[in-house]
Amino acid sequence: MRIDTAAGSILCDPWVNPAYFASWFPFPDNSLLDWEALGQVDYLYVSHLHRDHFDAKHLRDFVSKDATVLLPEFPTSEMEDELRELGFTKFLKAPNEQVVELPGGLKIMIQALTSPTDGPIGDSSLWVEYDGVRLLNQNDARPTDLTVFAELGHVHAHLLQFSGAIWYPMVYELPQSAKTAFGKQKRDRQFDRTWRYIDDLKADHVFPIAGPPCFLDDELWQFNDIFGDEGNIFPDQSVFLSEYAKVGGTNGIVLLPGSVAEVTTSGATTTHPQPVEEFFANKKAHLEEMRERKRPIIEAEKASWRHPEVDVLDGMKRRIEPLLDESIYLAKGVGGPVRFDLVGYDGESVESIVVDFPGKEVRPYADEKVRYRFRTERALIEHLLHIEEVDWVNSLFLSCRFSAARIGQYNEFVYAFFKCLSEERLQYAEGWYDEHERAVDAEDITLNGWVVQRRCPHLKADLSRFGIVDGDQLTCQLHGWKFDLPSGRCLTSVGHKVRAHRVDAETPAPAGEALS
Ligand code: FES
Repeated sequence: MRIDTAAGSILCDPWVNPAYFASWFPFPDNSLLDWEALGQVDYLYVSHLHRDHFDAKHLRDFVSKDATVLLPEFPTSEMEDELRELGFTKFLKAPNEQVVELPGGLKIMIQALTSPTDGPIGDSSLWVEYDGVRLLNQNDARPTDLTVFAELGHVHAHLLQFSGAIWYPMVYELPQSAKTAFGKQKRDRQFDRTWRYIDDLKADHVFPIAGPPCFLDDELWQFNDIFGDEGNIFPDQSVFLSEYAKVGGTNGIVLLPGSVAEVTTSGATTTHPQPVEEFFANKKAHLEEMRERKRPIIEAEKASWRHPEVDVLDGMKRRIEPLLDESIYLAKGVGGPVRFDLVGYDGESVESIVVDFPGKEVRPYADEKVRYRFRTERALIEHLLHIEEVDWVNSLFLSCRFSAARIGQYNEFVYAFFKCLSEERLQYAEGWYDEHERAVDAEDITLNGWVVQRRCPHLKADLSRFGIVDGDQLTCQLHGWKFDLPSGRCLTSVGHKVRAHRVDAETPAPAGEALS
């Protein structure tokens, strides 16, 4: 997204090259735009470090190094460090949730989200005002609410994510019918969340952005939403429009690469490089053509993954064991061994390695019960060790080039740990959970006959707005987590107990625990 005003231009999250082991490509294809010209901007804003937002190659090759980077206030300096390495030297560190006035009357505000589950240690949204026109580029950030933006005045353009951007449920080793059912639930939840955000802000115009990606490798082709699968979590912008219409939404505007929307206080006019409906009617052909064009890029990437000289067990030991030793909250949260089955170059031999969280070691699998099992190509792990990747979510897991099985509920600590394979990140995540464990969230609210704590045990959404009680079950609509109210137990993920009792009960249930 490029925002042009008379007081300057801001390029936001320019993503062009494939991300995550060449799995994700931008959809629709934007690689044929005139990036030499588009990259000549006054400001650059990158919302977070996920590789479908932070495209290092593209930033290096096409974005003017005279641009001032509008930097979210993240807990670590990783984004600034990476941008400096790419040649950027001008930074404006935007104080969190404070309006900054730039020369010429352009105003911006950045909200940084900093929980270990927000992006790769942080995600953010950008608010912009010029000449009375206000825009919120919420992108794929998930603030608990949008009050901080709404308080700055009526918003004219709201840009937000509506589609999926995760590996669940596709990679899980489940019967197809279960996958479809879970996928459908997830798809519905994504839309519900989007409607809630839209309703929060009540902007004049809503622009569905930040997804879905497309998958051009033959091995991943089935993830594209072109097969009429109601469990596909990657609905596109045209599906957004039709679903939005079902809930009464009439102000959605879909942009294609090269589209231009002129937004004023009184309306929006849009021009497109081709008719939008015609484009989506030919989506499959677009993807097939793109697949042929991008094939050499995928093949070249694949050829770079194998590093037979890497001893994977030894490499994982060296990287992971020191962090296991330091980890209190994440290790306790995972609470059991996690197994990696690594398939060799021949496609058949398998090396099984266990990351033993209670035992604090990495070792060969010993025929034991494990909490999670991942199965992937050994070459991918070799590559991660070779490049010293500190974030296996922002590489392996988002690639969807693995399958998974687990016993019991989703465990967010597994993924939080594997995105923190550096001292700096691990310390931050441990500190964050420590603070949350200590935080006494004393305020209660009443919902449909139940007194419950006001803030969701997951990421503190305000349950007076996001909570729905149906019988004995509470659902927080921000991420769809469910809780059994009589026991307080979280039904979606281990830990995260909620404090609740019936309105007429004399003795409240004991206070919730952050971790079990
Ligand atoms: S904040 Fe995530 S489900 Fe409530």
